[in-house]
Order: sequence, then C-alpha cells, then structure tokens
Amino acid sequence: MCGIVGYVGERQACPVIIKGLHRLEYRGYDSAGVALVTPDGGLNLYKCKGKVSDLERFLDGKQPTGTIGIGHTRWATHGEPNDVNAHPHFSASGNIALIHNGIIENFRVLKDALVQHGFTFRSSTDSEVLVNLIEYIRDTNGCTLEEAVRMALKQVVGAYAIAVIERGNTSQIIAAKQSSPMAIGIGKGEFFLSSDAASIIDYTQDFVYLGDGEVAVINKNKPLRIMNLGGKESPVDIQKLELSISQLEKGGYPHFMLKEIHEQPDTLVDCIRGRVNPDTREIILSGVLDHREKFLGAGRIIFVACGTSWHASLIGEHLIESMCRIPVEVEYASEFRYRNPIIRKDDVVIAVSQSGETADTLAAVEMARSAGAFVYGICNVVGSSIARATHSGTYIHVGPEIGVASTKAFTGQVTVMAMLALVIGRLKGTLGEDKYHEVAGALLELPQTMKEVLKTADQVADLAKIFTYAHNFIYLGRGYNYPTALEGALKLKEISYIHAEGLPAAEMKHGPIALIDAEMPTVAIATQDHTYEKTLSNIEEIKARGGKIIAIVSKGDRLARRCADYCIEVPVTAECLMPVISSVPLQLLAYYIATYKGRSVDQPRNLAKSVTVE
Ligand code: G6P
Repeated sequence: MCGIVGYVGERQACPVIIKGLHRLEYRGYDSAGVALVTPDGGLNLYKCKGKVSDLERFLDGKQPTGTIGIGHTRWATHGEPNDVNAHPHFSASGNIALIHNGIIENFRVLKDALVQHGFTFRSSTDSEVLVNLIEYIRDTNGCTLEEAVRMALKQVVGAYAIAVIERGNTSQIIAAKQSSPMAIGIGKGEFFLSSDAASIIDYTQDFVYLGDGEVAVINKNKPLRIMNLGGKESPVDIQKLELSISQLEKGGYPHFMLKEIHEQPDTLVDCIRGRVNPDTREIILSGVLDHREKFLGAGRIIFVACGTSWHASLIGEHLIESMCRIPVEVEYASEFRYRNPIIRKDDVVIAVSQSGETADTLAAVEMARSAGAFVYGICNVVGSSIARATHSGTYIHVGPEIGVASTKAFTGQVTVMAMLALVIGRLKGTLGEDKYHEVAGALLELPQTMKEVLKTADQVADLAKIFTYAHNFIYLGRGYNYPTALEGALKLKEISYIHAEGLPAAEMKHGPIALIDAEMPTVAIATQDHTYEKTLSNIEEIKARGGKIIAIVSKGDRLARRCADYCIEVPVTAECLMPVISSVPLQLLAYYIATYKGRSVDQPRNLAKSVTVE
C-alpha cells in the first residue's frame, strides 16, 4: 500500500526519494509525488496520478532542487486516484507539506471543524485534513511544527505514518506513526525515512523503527530525537539491517515473481539453516523452546492471518493437530478482531504474516495480547510491527519478497510450521520418534526436492499456453493439499484476473460440480497421500462430465494419468510437507498464464503487497 520516503542531508533529495519510491513500487499504488524545500526555503510540490516513472516524466525539465524532501506512493482509500488526491498535500497556506499512510477515521469531524475556521480543501483525502489541522494548531498557538504535529495527532483516531516538512526549514523533517510502519535510516550527517527499511538499504544499514504513538524530530544538524505525543523523550535504539542490494533486484529474471519462485531452493536452505541439525535431526527453534511451557500447556492454538499467510495457517492446523494433538483454529485476522472471540489465558495465538505489517493481523495480535494469550509470530520482514508486537516468534528468513503474489514466503511459512509442530510434538510425546525422524529428514532434503520440482517449469509454461483462454478455473485438493488448492486459485486470481475457486475435492458433489463443462478446467492435486484414491474418484466424476483436468501427481504415478488430460509430476516428500512442493507448479501456472495474457505480474491491478489499512 502507500509508501513513504524522506531525506534530509547534503545530497539532492529528489533522486534519493525517487529511487526509494521505485523500491516501494511492489507495495501497490496509483499515484506518486514529492515535496522539497529549496535551498532558499521555498516549498515545492510535484505529484501526479500513475507510476513513479510518470512522476519522473512530470519532473523532467523542472529541476527539482533541495537537500530535504518527502515522497509518497498512494494507494487510494479516501478519494479516487488522481493528481489532486496524490500526496504530498499542502496546508491551505502552502507552508506545510505532509505525506500520510493509513486512514484517519475521524477525518469528517476534524474537517467540519476546520471548515468552520475558514479552511478550504482541494482534495477529498483524509490526509489533507491532517496537514490543515497541524497548520491551524501551529498558527493559533504560535508553536513549533513539532509541537503542532504532536497536538494534532492527539486528536486523530486511526492509523498513520506521516512525514511533514515546512517552508523555510531546510534541515528538519517531523515523522510519526501509529499502526503503520516507519523506519528512519541513519547516515553521516544525513537521515532517510521509509515505510520499508529495505527501500533505502542503498544508503545505510542502521535503522530506528518508530514505535506506535512516537514522533521523531529528524534534523540533519542534531541528534535524532524520539518522543511520545506528550513530548516525553525515549532512547534511540539503532538496529542493523543485514540485507544486500542484489536481494532487491530481479537478477536477470523478467519479473520478481519468477525470480522468487526460482529462489525457493535457496530460501528453504536459509529457512532451515541452523535450525535442523543434519546429523542428529534435532530441531532448535529458540522462539518456541524458550517458551516451551506456553506451547506444552496450550489448551488451544489460534492462527490469525490474511491471504496467502492464512492458507499457510490452514496447513499449520493439520501439522499441529496431527503431530501435537493440540486443537487448532485458523482465523481470518479481519474477522477475528471484530468478532469478540473467546480468548483464554492458555491459548497460544500464532500470527502469520510475510510483511509483518498487515493491519488486521497486527490488530488481532494486540487484541490477543490484551486478552492475556501468549502470542507468537511467524514473519518474514525482520523488525516488522508484528514481529515486534508478539511475545516471541520465528522468522522465515526467505529474504525480501517483492512480487505482490506471495510465493517463497508461503513455502517458508509452511516449513517453519512443520519445524514448530515437530518440536512441540516431540516434547509433548505425541509424535513418535520414527515419524519425527522421517519428517525431519524430509525437511533437510526439501531444498533439493524443491530444485527437482522447479524442473517442471517448461512443461507448466506449455500447459499455460493451452489454458490462457479460460475464464474460470477450479482447483481441488484434499487433506494437506486442500489449502494448496486454495493458494493455487488465489495465485491465478491475483495476477491473471481469471476467476478461480479452490475447493476440497469431495465438496464438488455438493454444488460446484454443476459448473463443470468443457470450458471449466480443473487443476487437481492428486499426489500419493492417504486420500489419493478418493481424489482420483473425484477426478473421474469431473471427467465424466466433460471437464478438462490438469493433475499434479507424484513422480511415477500411473493411475491419475488415465483420467487426467494433463499430468505434472512432482517429486515425493513427506505427506505433511507436500504443499511446499505441490504449490510450486501452481505458482508457475499462474505466472505463465498471467504473462501470456500480458498482465502486470509484479504489480497486479488493485492489489498491494502489504495491506497496512483495514
Ligand atoms: C496482501 C498480499 C498477499 C498477502 C496478504 C497478507 O493481500 O497481496 O500476498 O498474502 O496481504 O500479507 P502478510 O504480509 O500479512 O502475509
């Protein structure tokens, strides 16, 4: 969703900001803009609807100068995507410029009050209300910008990450956050600002992550100051971000998504490294072991997540129930947080989030914590809000995921969940040693198995050509592979805009089979597990009604071949790890269909990588 970049120092700010905004493009957006204070104190604004490249064209020939500035990519919430609604927003006098991520829920009340004071508004955004509120407070109280920002934010209900600059001030940016991410990069005599630290990794590895309700006074001539809305200062905690620039580039692939699919053998190595001992197969997950009494004493485990992370959580449910015999519930974070759910003190809530910033998941975490549950996070982005808000957790360590459609994060999440289930199941004594060793051994081989399955890429690309015409798809699976079917359908929807539905194979008879005809292809995951024969019967029923079938089958399979029109053979692993492998041809199928249809694979329409507003 919206992205923020800021700079203050000795360099020209505009190129730094534009580069950062390019790095944030993956988040999804519909307009972009930048505001700069010129060396003589003027405040200039450049913004337009469209991509960062459109903004660059707009800037062409305008010579935007200034060593301090703020930039923004906007994903529309209040007001359509157009030039006027794009950020930054000027205050009525044009003396203050602001960028904002999030939603100000009480903006109507605030706006009505400002209108009474004679303010007029150019845009239909909630953000313009905030910049005018800051101006009104500053002018009526005769206070500094910093004080005005703090006083204004006390009146705001909602989520925000903001950055504010003012005419005549060439050295200072004020930033603040509540429920939306904000990182401050520390350089020598210069500061950077971003909603995603990775976007400014070209310049620094030292970051301060703003906490909720905190305000930062970023002045290039002074030490960084962090305070709460009351002005009480807190220590500045600088953290190192270990990330290489190459991880943020396509590395010769046409799209980030394809790169990320092909990275999976390596990302699985990174995910497993140091956690599964190759000799003893002992698994060390300190986030779990340090809190073992919480897991061993858990009356229930509740997963909260959204999107792909929710699908991974469904697999987590199978893993934990079968290995640890602890009842598991899987909740959409957005539903959980508004349902007044029963949360007990002996519940363990597991929040799963690639970005660690999804607004609903973060709110669910806070709710679970305040109800007294132990909250554990499975995140990818190190230092993200959810990672920090949980009591403990395990990073999946798959590196930056930039393609909007999640791929390597899904396989990393399932891998961490398998390790977690193995650790708890063994400690609890609900998992036999033989089973433990079988699955831990398969985990160690998973990167190699992943390499094997990626060899299906050409075959999948050929199949994709055949099926690019389709307007609808059904994805079927059972057991561990039912969530894989959901995930396969989601991938196709997200990037090809083809309608697709994932279903448990046996549910077809209860309605969806009525949809089957020659125009409705079915992707059936029919690998050799304990429901294999039953899945074959389900495939037969579709075949009998003239449906076309693509089956994902285990290597060497003979039976599925008889009823499916096309088979993709995947290597065998432990049944509970099969989704890590069987999801890969589905990622590839979605990718190739989308590219044949000419879709914007890495930045599909209307979608955001990180949904930081509810
Ligand atoms: C967005 C992304 C999805 C992702 C979901 C949850 O919708 O486009 O790819 O699965 O958010 O994100 P999270 O970062 O919490 O896993």
